[in-house]
Amino acid sequence: MQHRLRFFASCAGLACLLGCGSNSSAVSQSIASLRAVARPSGRTVGAAISASRLDDAVYAAAAREFSTTTPENELKWGPVEPEPGVFSFDGADRILALAAENDMRMRGHTLVWHSQLPDWVKAISDRDELIAVIERHINEVVGRYRGRIYAWDVVNEAFTDWRGPPMGQTERPPEFDPHLRGTHPSDTDPMYADLNAGTNGLDSVFGRVIGPEYVELAFRLAHAADPNALLFINDFNAEGLGAKSDALYRFVSDLKAAGVPIDGVGLQMHISAETMGDRTTANIVQNMQRLADLGLQIHITEFDVSLCGTLSLEERRTLQTNRWREIAEACVNQPACTAITTWGIADPNSWRDRECSVGAERSEPLLFDLNYQRKPVYGTFAAALQHDPVPAAATQH
Ligand code: GLA
Repeated sequence: MQHRLRFFASCAGLACLLGCGSNSSAVSQSIASLRAVARPSGRTVGAAISASRLDDAVYAAAAREFSTTTPENELKWGPVEPEPGVFSFDGADRILALAAENDMRMRGHTLVWHSQLPDWVKAISDRDELIAVIERHINEVVGRYRGRIYAWDVVNEAFTDWRGPPMGQTERPPEFDPHLRGTHPSDTDPMYADLNAGTNGLDSVFGRVIGPEYVELAFRLAHAADPNALLFINDFNAEGLGAKSDALYRFVSDLKAAGVPIDGVGLQMHISAETMGDRTTANIVQNMQRLADLGLQIHITEFDVSLCGTLSLEERRTLQTNRWREIAEACVNQPACTAITTWGIADPNSWRDRECSVGAERSEPLLFDLNYQRKPVYGTFAAALQHDPVPAAATQH
């Protein structure tokens, strides 16, 4: 308990933290910063930010709450290498400058991803050419930030995600079991064109043209370009226990066994207050433990909690608050979980804020409001980050 109370200035705020349920706004205001509350447990706490918003002083001040930062889009292949061999680092450099000036670390997101990928890369059909293009991209981007970006999401969203029964089936046909995108004939079958639309389509030029070994290739190239950077595979809907997290677990076990330089798994953690599916907190705790048992680190890379659902607003707000608290506690109680990043700072800028299908209801998935002011749930999250970590010995099998 020794760290837990240190940063809370007011007794009223403290009483609320301990469960009175009122005055939680006051608690949020009394906290020094998220980075300060997370520091004693040895975790970093980060946010994805946008270079284009940094001219707004209030936004920049909120960004400095965090000990790490992730460029929301600036290091994706599309913005960073829009034409073959033509690189644009302005946005990422601006974010890196903020990090350097404020003693923050930067996560790199992301090197190889089937989405936000320029058409010229998607059009490559020759295996050797695509390998050479990946090599140039990783060498240039990771090499430029060698020693300055401490962790990279090397491969993002490599696994397919079940999106409901196609063609009237009620069960998932075996060909839709989670697998590396683009590596199964059904991924490009015109019969499944509807499943293949959008950013969550089944296809990936990397899996289709190179095969599953593109993942190992990307990790080895990234490691050669910066041997000290921590290298992650990052995915969504793989946080709990289910077919997708099992597939990812088996895959990273094999990578580790093959000596591939992978340091960890990024669990995106785009979750919802009301709907949990296989991503209950208990399942997330178990999944983190099996990844830790492989000797991998876990970063929560894109945390946000949508309020959308069918229960009363009050019930959903309670569930949302619980989710922020439970996931933060799950990380703090797991020695291998070393970083938590929220995907954005303020609700109105979140990609999820408009996802509710009910009227004009907003999903309010983040910790700061419209004016970049701390929401009551910020205080809950901060208190959870401050929990004393469980000693490593107590969490080993
Ligand atoms: C995924 C990606 C992020 C971001 C979000 C939505 O989670 O990893 O980079 O694009 O989708 O905005």
